[in-house]
Amino acid sequence: MTARVFLNGQWLPAEQARVSVMDRGFLFGDGVYEVIPVYSRQPFRLEQHLVRLQHSLDGIQLANPHRLQEWVAYVTQLAGEAEWEDQSIYIQVTRGPMAVRNHAFPREIRPTVVMLAEQMSPPPASQREQGIGAVSAADIRWLRCDLKTTSLLANCLLRQLAVSAGCVETVLFRDGFLTEGSASSIFVVKHGVLLAPIKNHLMLPGITYDVVLELAAQHGLPHEVRDITEAETRDADELWMCSSTKEVLPIVTLDGRAVGSGVGACPPAKRNPGQTESGTPGPGFAKMHAWYQEFKATVMRAPS
Ligand code: PDD
Repeated sequence: MTARVFLNGQWLPAEQARVSVMDRGFLFGDGVYEVIPVYSRQPFRLEQHLVRLQHSLDGIQLANPHRLQEWVAYVTQLAGEAEWEDQSIYIQVTRGPMAVRNHAFPREIRPTVVMLAEQMSPPPASQREQGIGAVSAADIRWLRCDLKTTSLLANCLLRQLAVSAGCVETVLFRDGFLTEGSASSIFVVKHGVLLAPIKNHLMLPGITYDVVLELAAQHGLPHEVRDITEAETRDADELWMCSSTKEVLPIVTLDGRAVGSGVGACPPAKRNPGQTESGTPGPGFAKMHAWYQEFKATVMRAPS
């Protein structure tokens, strides 16, 4: 369920918000977006999300239709009005409508701006406690995965691979290296060290990824940001996925095989769909989950 939506400067009931079928976002996926988590009506890391939005807009050569302060005001208004305390705010900016279908940009650009809030709930306890299953796939996306574009067909196909296998996420490899998940950042833990892939054009610079690395640094968890091979990922002691809406979750099976040394065993009756072998969340995840929850309670819910 959504509250009122913002469309090109107007606040409208969702069912009255209409966009042209000639919109380039609809016909070409020519647009960018952001998903901003809101805790107790406080948008979390709003400025960082808006900086990433600017990076995405620059990457597709689309002028930002609003100044930073205008975005802050709109998001704050939406977060204050929506009926839920915890929300995810979705922002989308497309290159707008065109008179005739033409790949080249129109001479006159009237971007379409949409903003809406949805209720946000933490992932179910079963996913945190028993962990989730993941599958892996070749990263078939383009070479600008650092841009948060609305052209998400490859991500959708990749996520569906996981869902069809009864799993939650698809872990992506490109040329033998870990990139990220279909809609999340992925971390590896090996011998007590947290490993994170280097942010580059092949992955989205995740805001939650930054939080996880900050918490690791703050609590003295050894960590390295470097290229991670597929072999290292498959041989991980622990695998985690994270995103603004899913927080941090432990991946306990990859392609049906238990992640790590199978510390403890997950009995068949307690396994989530897709968990074909035993596998349980590791000790690193338990710590990170606790730190994340503490951070959420103290920092994310506090007015900035
Ligand atoms: N997606 N990588 C990809 C491809 C993503 O789509 C996302 C998040 C992330 C994590 O980024 P962040 O921590 O900033 O949410 C990484 C959002 C939630 C979505 O598309 O709905």
